[in-house]
Amino acid sequence: MVCLLIVVLIMFVLVIIVYTTKINSFLILEAKMKSLMITKYGDVNSSLEEQEVPKPAVKANQILIKTYSSSFNPIDYKIVSGAYKALGKLSFPAGIGRDVSGIVDEVGKNVRKFKTGDKVYSRINESFVGTMAEYVLSNVEDTALMPSNLGFDESASIPLVGLTTYQALVDVAKLSKGESVLIHAGSGGIGTFAIQLAKHLGAKVTTTTSSKNVSFVKGLGADKVIDYTSQNYLDEGAAFDVVYDTLGGDHTLNSFNVLKEGGRVLSIAGTIDSITAEQFGLNKFIRMILAFQARKVTRTASKMNATYRFLYMSPNGEQLKKIAKLYESGKLKPILDKTYKFSESIQALEYLSKGHAKGKVVVKIRE
Ligand SMILES: NC(=O)c1ccc[n+]([C@@H]2O[C@H](COP(=O)([O-])OP(=O)(O)OC[C@H]3O[C@@H](n4cnc5c(N)ncnc54)[C@H](OP(=O)(O)O)[C@@H]3O)[C@@H](O)[C@H]2O)c1
Repeated sequence: MVCLLIVVLIMFVLVIIVYTTKINSFLILEAKMKSLMITKYGDVNSSLEEQEVPKPAVKANQILIKTYSSSFNPIDYKIVSGAYKALGKLSFPAGIGRDVSGIVDEVGKNVRKFKTGDKVYSRINESFVGTMAEYVLSNVEDTALMPSNLGFDESASIPLVGLTTYQALVDVAKLSKGESVLIHAGSGGIGTFAIQLAKHLGAKVTTTTSSKNVSFVKGLGADKVIDYTSQNYLDEGAAFDVVYDTLGGDHTLNSFNVLKEGGRVLSIAGTIDSITAEQFGLNKFIRMILAFQARKVTRTASKMNATYRFLYMSPNGEQLKKIAKLYESGKLKPILDKTYKFSESIQALEYLSKGHAKGKVVVKIRE
């Protein structure tokens, strides 16, 4: 009788274990979300697909954001193409997108700064990429409350371009009142923010764009516009205290031809400098190759007693808070070119990859 009872008890326990395991796996199965994923290196059209992936679990100092909007940046299509393989290979499928705006869905146990329901925006840390997903993790220190006067689409257009330009013009170039700045490609995601920020800092702004965008960039505050289809910025002579190089290639070295003696060239698309190589943790051999590639720029800068810096932006919630204040006070305005639905996100990235966006390309993840 006792033996029978023990057998029944063991069976009962086993049934409970199997049942709870099933419930757990069912729950785990439930905790999934839609996310746009990179499936291989290649062109935008054939290398991305929407997949069901596990919803991320929040850790102590993190928040889980229910994504409302996200925006694409050139880094997204460059990564898909494999252009950044040397800096680290992707393991597929990999997430895509770095900008997010949304509502805090869950906070880690140490989080005091944000609470469930807060409207936030962030340029998330690389370890949490991507934001083209229904839920996204962000570190507390990389996140800020959204500008109170803006919606999700407008807010998602800001973090990456805003932080890059704030760090370039304020932190590194220290652009100040009365100085003259040349901003290459004033009509792009970076350029539209840069013109407005440089004007707010009191600088005299010259920018380049094509004929169709001349009046648009003037409307953003540019004092002088050079139509690159019919004019050459090299004709300006040594006119600028600061050049913000957003184009790279020959434009990086050419930027010194229009720089005043002792000026600053700040590039986000040109030759990587030694400070950034160190920031990336690149090995000595790669750093030597980069230094060799940068030799003309370094030599030219030194001859002119000028400064050359390449900047790779960093996520920064405190700076996003300052940037939010600039929008709230009306000093900056969000510039959106096109807004796509989540189901159209591949088309959105394809459009951006043509290189002629007029402001930012946003994806609405949910209504
Ligand atoms: N290092 C970093 O941390 C960092 C961060 C952000 C971005 N970036 C880099 O910065 C670059 C710019 O980014 P973005 O978001 O502004 O790109 P974007 O939005 O795609 O830029 C498009 C704009 O560039 C203009 N443009 C194209 N060719 C031009 C030329 N030859 N002269 C003047 N304007 C030209 C286009 O104007 P038209 O249509 O009139 O031609 C268009 O409005 C990208 O290479 C990106 O990867 C680097």
